[in-house]
Amino acid sequence: MRIVFWSLLLVAFNLSALEKFQSSQVCQKCHPLIYKEHFASQHRKASIFDDAIHKAVWDKHPLKKKNKYTCAKCHTPNDARIITALQNKKSAAPMQNKAQEEGVSCVSCHNIKSIQKHEKSNTNLITTNKKLLYSARESEKNEKDKKYKTKTSLFGFVTQKSGSPFHEIDFSNEIFYNGNVCLGCHSHKENAHKLQVCKMDINETTQSEKENCITCHMPLVQGSFSTISQSKMHRYHGFTGTIHKPQMLKKYLDIGFKKEQKGFSVTLTNHASHAFLLQPLRLAQLRVTLHRAGKKITLKPKNFVRIIGKDKKPAPPWVATEVLKNTQLQAKEQRHIHFDADLQSGDEVVVHFGYYVVNPKAAKKLNLTEFTEFKLFKEERFYVK
Ligand code: HEC
Ligand code: HEC
Ligand code: HEC
Ligand code: HEC
Ligand code: HEC
Repeated sequence: MRIVFWSLLLVAFNLSALEKFQSSQVCQKCHPLIYKEHFASQHRKASIFDDAIHKAVWDKHPLKKKNKYTCAKCHTPNDARIITALQNKKSAAPMQNKAQEEGVSCVSCHNIKSIQKHEKSNTNLITTNKKLLYSARESEKNEKDKKYKTKTSLFGFVTQKSGSPFHEIDFSNEIFYNGNVCLGCHSHKENAHKLQVCKMDINETTQSEKENCITCHMPLVQGSFSTISQSKMHRYHGFTGTIHKPQMLKKYLDIGFKKEQKGFSVTLTNHASHAFLLQPLRLAQLRVTLHRAGKKITLKPKNFVRIIGKDKKPAPPWVATEVLKNTQLQAKEQRHIHFDADLQSGDEVVVHFGYYVVNPKAAKKLNLTEFTEFKLFKEERFYVK
């Protein structure tokens, strides 16, 4: 009896020690800047408790009635209770706890050893040595298991430290250099009708060490990556995107203008390696206004959407069987959009490209009226001679 009691206690201790180790909060102590950025990111806010859009869709999802929060695989992968229940084909509904509040937490990424491909969605394979974290550092690419070391010089005056006193580091994992670490969650998601509801259309060959998810969405910014080991720059962990800090991605969209025999055209060039906006909930829009002698002439806006549905009518992701329409700017696409309006000398053409995070039509159905505001992504002004 006593032995059973002790072993149970030991298991409980191990679990809580591991949970402690896995919480983003423990990383805060030595990586405060990165922690702060991550805290404000959509990754940290990926649960139903911090993302109203995710919650609204979950509330309508048929799996909710069955208490099967399968979204945990990507939205809250560190919630061990839910992940284990799902693996054992048991039901599990999200409950507000630390793992939910931390969403896609630090170790959700830094523990990924490799990506396993599947039709429905890919799967992240996690290291069994949970004290080992993967990262990228060109100068130490051969280092598979960097441990904490202190070296005292001959006279005992200077102590040199290297490694982290808290964790081991593996710098040799290629997916942290070419961005494929993101493709466990971001590659695609297929529903029960074999429709790819979300689709990145990106693979190992489109990703290079020079340009990939990391170089665009985690640009180098000022500040040390750690308080112990000093660096001038670090990778931005706020993850620039549609919701958080889109202005940091502005340079990846070019807006051009050309006067034509009749009317004019606006050229949009998407430098991203994937479609401009990926979530079927979004609606991007091009808005053109002519400023003429103190007056504003607003032209009809052009929409960019990917609408999924069934029987030729829009339908939610779990019902949809086909793509009804896809006018989103595709990866690296350059598109000319013609406007018939005649221009006059002295006109100023004001071009706005932006989006609704939730398509106003869907926002109504989902009762997400707080998201019906148009978000300006980029503005250009052209003067007609
Ligand atoms: C295979 C991984 C994966 C699974 C499983 C998954 N998601 Fe997601 N989800 C993502 C990724 C990645 C994004 C971000 C994509 C983007 O913004 O284009 C996302 C974004 C979303 C968004 C948009 C969030 C916003 O703030 O605009 C909604 C809504 C959503 N998911 C709902 C769900 C629901 C509901 C489930 C479970 C029934 C689910 N997802 C399961 C990966 C997943
Ligand atoms: C969505 C995935 C993801 C999440 C979440 C994430 N990281 Fe990272 N992190 C990366 C990737 C990828 C790199 C490698 C970038 C490089 O060095 O080229 C990285 C780099 C780092 C680095 C290396 C130094 C540098 O230049 O930035 C540190 C330290 C770090 N992360 C700590 C953290 C901490 C602490 C958290 C949580 C507060 C966290 N990360 C959350 C993906 C992630
Ligand atoms: C007690 C301090 C401490 C704690 C706590 C800590 N780290 Fe670190 N970490 C460091 C130090 C110091 C380094 C730099 C080691 C080196 O350069 O040799 C480092 C390096 C890293 C790197 C690799 C940096 C690179 O250059 O690519 C990553 C990733 C990382 N930590 C993530 C985390 C995560 C995630 C957590 C929380 C689970 C965490 N750290 C907790 C001190 C800490
Ligand atoms: C464990 C799964 C997971 C991994 C790994 C992951 N993501 Fe995400 N990511 C998500 C989910 C889920 C969301 C949607 C969160 C939400 O809005 O509810 C998301 C959202 C985003 C967004 C949208 C942010 C915004 O403000 O609109 C960007 C950009 C992004 N991820 C980039 C990356 C990059 C780059 C990597 C690799 C370094 C990565 N993600 C790795 C799950 C993941
Ligand atoms: C050349 C730069 C570039 C590369 C490479 C790139 N992106 Fe993007 N990404 C963008 C731009 C630009 C946008 C659109 C602007 C916005 O969402 O505000 C975007 C948007 C996104 C969004 C939000 C989409 C939505 O509908 O909300 C996610 C998620 C995302 N990227 C993830 C990734 C991942 C994962 C990779 C790697 C597989 C990647 N991106 C590679 C530039 C890039």
